Amino acid sequence: MKSGKIYSATLAALAFLFAAHAAQSQDLAQDLALGEKVYKKCKACHAVGEGAKNKIGPQQNDLFGRVAGTAEGYKYSKAMIAAGEAGLIWTDASLTEYLKKPKAFVPKTKMSFSGLKKDEQIAAVIAYLKTFDTDGMPEEDASSYQPGS
Ligand code: HEC
Repeated sequence: MKSGKIYSATLAALAFLFAAHAAQSQDLAQDLALGEKVYKKCKACHAVGEGAKNKIGPQQNDLFGRVAGTAEGYKYSKAMIAAGEAGLIWTDASLTEYLKKPKAFVPKTKMSFSGLKKDEQIAAVIAYLKTFDTDGMPEEDASSYQPGS
């Protein structure tokens, strides 16, 4: 009898862990779906993914950890280059501020976008952008990302 109890306790613990894990990946999947939707606004000017080119705005593969104003071959505003020289690096925190109100965070940026109003839209588009590495191929495990790495 005793071992039966231990067995069912173990099973319950495993079920709990499994449920917690499933809920987490579901959150990420939901975030990514919302992020892809929000990114439609950015697509008017930006590209991301395999073979993404600079358009009106710079391409956005491997954005995280990149110094602002440094996508190869893109002609940035003086303001964005100066921000990068002053130490601006794209991370969760800096991108969150920039996307809220681009012109407040980088005065005189030539990105004519008024900003995203909802925190959840910003978080989702960040999660979405993180899935693209240097070649624009989806990272194997987007959740392994370390800010600033
Ligand atoms: C109307 C066009 C337009 C839209 C829409 C737009 N951007 Fe931009 N974006 C630009 C331009 C132009 C720049 C270059 C800014 C500069 O040089 O000052 C830029 C720059 C950026 C940068 C800095 C990149 C770097 O290499 O330093 C990021 C990050 C960025 N945009 C993210 C976004 C995201 C995310 C969205 C959607 C939520 C978005 N942008 C929507 C035009 C746009």
